[in-house]
Amino acid sequence: MNQRNTLKINSEGHLEIGGCDAEELARRFGTPLYVFDEAYIREMMRTYKKSLEENYGGYGVVLYASKAFSCKAIYKIARSEGIGADVVSGGELYTALSAGFPADRICMHGNNKTPDELNYAVDSGVGVIVVDSELEADRLDALCEKKGVKQSVLIRINPGVEAHTHAYVQTATPDSKFGFSIANGTAKEMTAYVLGKRHLVLKGFHCHIGSQIFEKQSFVIAAEKMTDFIAKIKAECGFEAGMLNIGGGFGIYYTDEDPKLACSDYAGYLKALCDTVSDRAEKLGIAKPFLAIEPGRSIVGEAGVTLYTAGAVKNIPGIKTYIAVDGGMFENPRYALYQSKYTVVAAGKMNAPCTQKATIAGKCCESGDIIAVNVALPEIESGDVLAVLSTGAYNYSMASNYNRNFVPAAVLVRDGNADVIIKKQTYEDLVRNDVVPQRLK
Ligand code: LLP
Repeated sequence: MNQRNTLKINSEGHLEIGGCDAEELARRFGTPLYVFDEAYIREMMRTYKKSLEENYGGYGVVLYASKAFSCKAIYKIARSEGIGADVVSGGELYTALSAGFPADRICMHGNNKTPDELNYAVDSGVGVIVVDSELEADRLDALCEKKGVKQSVLIRINPGVEAHTHAYVQTATPDSKFGFSIANGTAKEMTAYVLGKRHLVLKGFHCHIGSQIFEKQSFVIAAEKMTDFIAKIKAECGFEAGMLNIGGGFGIYYTDEDPKLACSDYAGYLKALCDTVSDRAEKLGIAKPFLAIEPGRSIVGEAGVTLYTAGAVKNIPGIKTYIAVDGGMFENPRYALYQSKYTVVAAGKMNAPCTQKATIAGKCCESGDIIAVNVALPEIESGDVLAVLSTGAYNYSMASNYNRNFVPAAVLVRDGNADVIIKKQTYEDLVRNDVVPQRLK
C-alpha cells in the first residue's frame, strides 16, 4: 500500500504494518497509538546515505532532522545507520545524548537558542552550531572564551526561495524570521561579523527552504544560490566555506493529491543537489564543500500510522457525518494548524467498499479539533479501529496535553514484532509537575 511496501492488507482483510496486524496492535497496546515501521525508517536513512556516497563521493553527512520525531529509539536507529542528527532544542539534544548518540555528529539549530541551551551544546561538544543572530554569535563567543574552547559554527542563510508549500512551513521568503538574507546583504555582513569572533570557527553556511516540498527545482535553485554565495564570500571576504548544509524539506505522500515517491525519487533529489553543488563549485573555481542534508519528514512520515478506536458516529442529515475518535489535536494538531489532509482507513475492514464520506473528529473541547475531513470510508461502528496514515512526522513531536489528555504510546514494529518505544502517559504523569502552594492547601 505504501511505496516501501511495509503497509499491507493481510489475509483477514486487516491493515498490516511491519508484519503486525493493526487491529491486534490496537487491542494489545490500546488507542490512540502511534505505530512506527522500523524497516521503512532504516530504508530511508540508507537511501540518503547511499545517494550521498554515489553522487558526492560520500563527502558529506545525512543529519536526521529529529524535530520530526524525537525519542531515544529513533536516535539509536540513526546511530546504527551511521548518520548524524539535527536537533533544535536542549530537549532534543538531551534525548539524543541520553540515547548515546555521538555529540560530534549533532548539528544544533534554533533561531533563538537560550543561553542555557548554548551552554549545554558547547559543554556536550556538539559538532556544529548554526548561528542565527548577532546576539547568538556574541553569547556563544563569550561562552567559549570563558570555557577556553572554540566552537564550530555555520551561519543560517536565507537564500530567498519561495518554495511551493504551506506558508507556515516556508522558511526562505524575504520576510522569514530565519537566517540572513543574501539579497539584502545581511548574509555577507553576518559572515564578516562571525569571522571576527575569536572563539567561533566558521565552517560554512546553512539554509533550509521549507518543508513538504516536491519541486526539485526549488532545491536546485537554493543549492545554486548557496554555492554562488560561497564563491562571492571567497572573492569578497577571502573566506572559503568548507561546509554547506542544505537543510531538508522533501515531501511525502499523505493523500492522492500528493505524488507517491519511491526511494529512487528521494535519492534523485539528493543527486540533483549534489550535482548542482559540484558543477557550480567547479565552474566558480571553489572547492567542493562538505555537504550536509537534513531530511526529517521523509524519513519518518510515511513510516508512521496512528490507530484510533471509533466512538460516537454522528450524522447531521444533509450536512455531514462525524466519526469521533479517542485522539485529536492533542496528538495530531496538523489539521488544526495547517488544514493538513490524511488518508484514513478502517483497519479491520480493508476490503469493504467505501460507502460514505466522513469527518474524523477528535475528543477535545473545540470544533477545530479535527483529524481529517471528507474521507472515504466503509460503514463504521463504534469500536472499529481507524488508521490514519503518514503520521510519523510532526505528530508525536507536536503533541500536547491539551484538555489533560494523555500523549499516546508509540510502538516500533518490525517483522511481526512490536516494541513500545514511548510509554503512554498516566494520570500521575499529568499532575507530576503541579504544585499547590501552601496558601491554597
Ligand atoms: N532542517 C531545518 C533547519 C528545519 O527547520 C527543518 C524543518 C528540517 C531540517 C526538516 O525538514 P523536513 O525534511 O522534515 O521537511 N510542523 C510542520 C513542519 C515544520 C518543519 C520545521 N523545520 C508540519 O507538521 O508540517
